[in-house]
Formats: sequence, structure tokens, C-alpha cells
Amino acid sequence: MASSSSFSSKLILLMCFMISAFGIAIAAKFDQEFDITWGDGRAKILNNGDLLTLSLDKISGSGFQSKNEYLFGKIDMQLKLVPGNSAGTVTAYYLSSQGPTHDEIDFEFLGNLSGDPYTLHTNVFSQGKGNREQQFHLWFDPTADFHTYSITWNPLRIM
Ligand SMILES: *[C@@H]1O[C@H](CO)[C@@H](O)[C@H](O)[C@H]1NC(C)=O
Repeated sequence: MASSSSFSSKLILLMCFMISAFGIAIAAKFDQEFDITWGDGRAKILNNGDLLTLSLDKISGSGFQSKNEYLFGKIDMQLKLVPGNSAGTVTAYYLSSQGPTHDEIDFEFLGNLSGDPYTLHTNVFSQGKGNREQQFHLWFDPTADFHTYSITWNPLRIM
């Protein structure tokens, strides 16, 4: 949780996937709300726009971002992370404004060796300043099923 009195620019929802593979399910249609921004075919929109999958190969990962910008809201992201040996992979889901003194809200999932837990790393940037990192080990296996990871952002706080 972080206070956010100086945090009021519009943010774009981005998701990128560096060195890993996973799937996402959403209520809205992915093809209507999001653009695939990189990945050279490694990102795919399937099931009539209901599922978006990102993957990686030895060259690069993949990512997408929202067509719209948002000022405040609640985002529920359903994610299923890459199973097995995911060491060295980073799956990031974040909101960001543009420009040098940007605002940002981050969820990053740091992969690990088989059987060792992922680290969930969060951070908030306000006018270019971060230093609000928090790290958690999840109490469930994020690779076994989809789980919902939420950001609530209102004029008073970020949770
Ligand atoms: C990997 O698992 C070990 C053992 O529990 C833990 O100490 C370490 O923080 C984990 N690393 C990452 C990147 O999650």
C-alpha cells in the first residue's frame, strides 16, 4: 500500500513477458481492448478474444498493452505462470504513464527453479521516484491454475 497524493496522471495497462510462458483470461475481449506490442508471433489472442497467451523463445518474450489510458480504477488480472524451471524469467503486469517523471504501479513475478517459490515483487513510482519495493513469496502455486491479482487505485490510495 502506498499513499498517492501526487499521483494522478493517466496510466496505460501494460503487460510484458520476458523469458517465460503463461496464459491470461479476461471478461472483456482482448482484441477490442488491447494491442499486442511485441513478440513476433509469440503473443496470441485465442478463443474469440477470451484468452491471451504470451510465450518466449531463446530470442525474446512478448507483450501487450491497453488501447486506452485510465485514471483510477480496479484491475483484476487473472494469470497462470510458467511451471517447472522458470528461473531467470520475469512476468510483469504494470500500469505506467509516459515521459521521464512517470508514474507506475508494478506487479512482477520472478521465476525460480522447479519446486522453489516464485517471488512477487511490487513497486510504485510517483513522478519518477520508486523505492517502494515489496517482495512476497506466494502461499500457493501460481503455475497450477489461474489466480486473480488486483490493483485498486483511487484518489486516496493504491492497494
Ligand atoms: C527461489 O527460492 C529460494 C528458496 O526458497 C528463495 O530463497 C529465493 O528467494 C527464490 N528466488 C526467487 C527469484 O524467487
